[in-house]
Amino acid sequence: MRQKIVAGNWKMNCDLEETKTLLKALKSKLDSVDPAVNLIVAPSFTNLLPAVEMLKDTSIEVAAQNMHPKPNGPYTGEVSAKMLSSIGVKTVILGHSERRKYFGETKALLNDKVNTALTQNFKVIFCVGESLAARQDKQHFQVVQSQLKGSLFYLSKKNWEHLILAYEPVWAIGTGETATAQQAQEMHAFIREEIAQNYDQQTADQVTILYGGSVKPGNAQELFSQKDVDGGLIGGAALNADDFLNIANCF
Ligand code: 13P
Repeated sequence: MRQKIVAGNWKMNCDLEETKTLLKALKSKLDSVDPAVNLIVAPSFTNLLPAVEMLKDTSIEVAAQNMHPKPNGPYTGEVSAKMLSSIGVKTVILGHSERRKYFGETKALLNDKVNTALTQNFKVIFCVGESLAARQDKQHFQVVQSQLKGSLFYLSKKNWEHLILAYEPVWAIGTGETATAQQAQEMHAFIREEIAQNYDQQTADQVTILYGGSVKPGNAQELFSQKDVDGGLIGGAALNADDFLNIANCF
């Protein structure tokens, strides 16, 4: 079902103490947030269990930032769906541009990861987005279309109930340069149209599509007021409790 979501991707930030401090601050001010807005935080693997424990009596959901497609085996340094499930994590971010760029994640690998996650009853926040060069070459729609086709459009219609998309133009991530509300809306509408063409309008209308890339309390309201922007996937600003909650209050 289409939802209002503000999700914090903490990336490789916050040790245990910092995680506890940030979560404590979020919890103490949670009353200020409209209950219709769903909050998700994605700390690093080492801090997932403490986060689950600290947030168990709240509405904030905990997500992992990555997951291996295989159930177990000789994959040094990796974490499986079963391991995440066993500590109460049932949401995972996949396809982030930093994973694609620094860790060589391909469409085929993401296919496997998405399949495993959905089979294991996870909710998937799947990221798509073009590079600066692609945007300058006016190839942004083609890039996003190919990411959707390559990793998601083979899925069943039913699978889409468990998918959240995040449009994150790479040139806007961590750069302070946000897509304009019009650029975000245009791409979100395009994504929804692609889903409608490959499935049907009903499926397209129920998918939550988040925008990510330098979302701050000062620009969230304009972005979230767009028809096809259902919330945000927040990086830097998610590391500050007030900023994160202020963003959540921007609908
Ligand atoms: P920033 O908000 O720091 O630009 O990061 C966005 C992002 O990559 C979220 O996944």
